[in-house]
Amino acid sequence: MYISSFVTLLAAASYAQALQLSDITSSCPAVWSDISTALTAQYLADGQCTDAARAAIRAAFHDCFNGACDGSLILAGECTNSENNGLQTLCTNLGSLAQNKSVGVADLIQFAGAHAIKTCPSGPTVAVKVGRTDSSTPAPLGILPAGNASSSDLLASFQSKGFTTTDLVALIGAHSTAKQFTTDPSQAGASLDSTPGEWDTKFYSETQDGTAPFTLPADKNLADDSASSGEFSRFARSQPAWAAAFAPAMEKMSMVGVTDTDLIDCTSALPGGSSKRDIKRASVFDRLKW
Ligand code: HEM
Ligand SMILES: *[C@@H]1O[C@H](CO)[C@@H](O)[C@H](O)[C@H]1NC(C)=O
Ligand SMILES: *[C@@H]1O[C@H](CO)[C@@H](O)[C@H](O)[C@H]1NC(C)=O
Repeated sequence: MYISSFVTLLAAASYAQALQLSDITSSCPAVWSDISTALTAQYLADGQCTDAARAAIRAAFHDCFNGACDGSLILAGECTNSENNGLQTLCTNLGSLAQNKSVGVADLIQFAGAHAIKTCPSGPTVAVKVGRTDSSTPAPLGILPAGNASSSDLLASFQSKGFTTTDLVALIGAHSTAKQFTTDPSQAGASLDSTPGEWDTKFYSETQDGTAPFTLPADKNLADDSASSGEFSRFARSQPAWAAAFAPAMEKMSMVGVTDTDLIDCTSALPGGSSKRDIKRASVFDRLKW
């Protein structure tokens, strides 16, 4: 009696699993694993994330925030605009890689950003999907925030796109891996915290203390404004708190202006994809592969 109801239960469970067709049809195309291998070669050196990785993280923001994550950063030549100074090499490389691998440019920009974040030591897993529509229509100029923006302007601009104060303060922590080249050309290459090859909380504490090699006025403004300073301090103290806020905010960024129908989860193709936390994030079908 026990046994037969157990068998019935098992049958019901496997029937339910078989019904998850979306999981089966949505497994990530193998080309993304090849791309991942190619990107690791560029984004990791001597156990640190590289200048190419920094550029990829910044590019993932710059393709999305001024319109939609649609590849226009590369396809419409936005990379030559001064607000994208420093991203030109990255844009050329990703444009050519997208062509060689026959994948979408918008998808590759977001995959490369998530890959670079994960490649930086202690970087979190940002879930990444593919299937965006590419566009070669340029996004408007002047929407991307300037390095001297006031805190209230930043908060308002992010709010208008659906990002909370917590989202913004978490996202700006990407400057943990940043260098500046054009803000003050006389200090080209100066980093925004003392460990630009690692994804750590030093950006927050050193920006607050004024001990970073270089600090953007916009970052200092967010650290000092009472509207955002609490979150700044919270992330300065806790890498897990920052990661927990950063990943969903970056996932939201990667979907600005994108309709989430028929997108395929490719988180499993990121480096370290066999770690426990990645398996939990992957779809049921992807989990079976490990
Ligand atoms: C919210 C307001 C933001 C402002 C005002 C801002 C501004 C800047 C500026 C001025 C630079 C230096 C550019 C240069 O002089 O070469 C920079 C670099 C960078 N930004 Fe931001 N940023 C913001 C948000 C973000 C976000 C949301 C991300 C990613 C999630 C990001 C990632 C980066 C990275 C990785 C770099 C370093 C690029 C490199 O070293 O090549 N930033 N940002
Ligand atoms: C794309 O393929 C061409 C021709 O094989 C090669 O020269 C180029 O380096 C490749 N680009 C990338 C980014 O893989
Ligand atoms: C930021 O810098 C630009 C150009 O250097 C200048 O026109 C603008 O007034 C500055 N904005 C703030 C808020 O200081």
